[in-house]
Amino acid sequence: LPSVNLSADRCLSDLGTRLARQSDPHVLLIGSGAQRARLAALIDVRIIAVDIDISADVDAFADALSLPFRDQSFDAVIATAVLEHVIRPEIAVTEICRVLKARGLFYSEIPFMQQVHEGAYDFTRYTLSGHRRLAERFEELESGAVAGPAIALRWAIEHFLLALVSERQLVRKLVKGGVRTAFAWLAIVDRRIAQRPAALDGASCTYFYGCLGEDAATDKDIITGYRGAQHLRHV
Ligand SMILES: C[S@@+](CC[C@H](N)C(=O)[O-])C[C@H]1O[C@@H](n2cnc3c(N)ncnc32)[C@H](O)[C@@H]1O
Repeated sequence: LPSVNLSADRCLSDLGTRLARQSDPHVLLIGSGAQRARLAALIDVRIIAVDIDISADVDAFADALSLPFRDQSFDAVIATAVLEHVIRPEIAVTEICRVLKARGLFYSEIPFMQQVHEGAYDFTRYTLSGHRRLAERFEELESGAVAGPAIALRWAIEHFLLALVSERQLVRKLVKGGVRTAFAWLAIVDRRIAQRPAALDGASCTYFYGCLGEDAATDKDIITGYRGAQHLRHV
């Protein structure tokens, strides 16, 4: 069913192009799930995939909080829809910085306006500014909405209906399928509006793409870098 990812193909193609200029680059894919094949089709570099899920397609089982790799061993790290499932995401980002080489690339997607998924293992949501703060040690190449408020609305309708119906798995499956089919058109809306300032304030998911820099972004940089629609006059 049609969904929306307004950033991954563009940013990851750029990441692949940049890495192609280096000799024998290595990419670490954290929380890979079943994502490795999709990524390998997009970038032609060595990918090392890790996850904690026994059913994931991995090279090694490893926790983002304690990566079993030497300092400065990767040219890029990718973590999409992962850091919200890590109980202390700041520690995971410290680990990411540790295993990245100087000027190493980082591509991250984290949900903002999304309901709980992965049950007990879902801890955090970030605004675009919060995502920027989490990645403060990186120089920004690009950031924005992976999916906007239209997809957030579709999730909200689905979860509203799921809260009304019975807990039976078949009923829940039917509700999910029905909502995704009936509201598939919302994906088209997001393609048009998701990067607007007001849409960033209500995005379903945000991304950050950057490279490890010498200077961390300051708190002031993060606040002045806000791109949403609510510029407050009382501060
Ligand atoms: C929502 S899935 C996303 C999978 C994939 N990155 C994608 O975008 O399709 C989240 C993944 O993060 C993994 N994960 C959760 N906590 C983790 C941790 N502490 N270290 C490594 N992987 C983790 C889960 O096992 C799961 O495969």
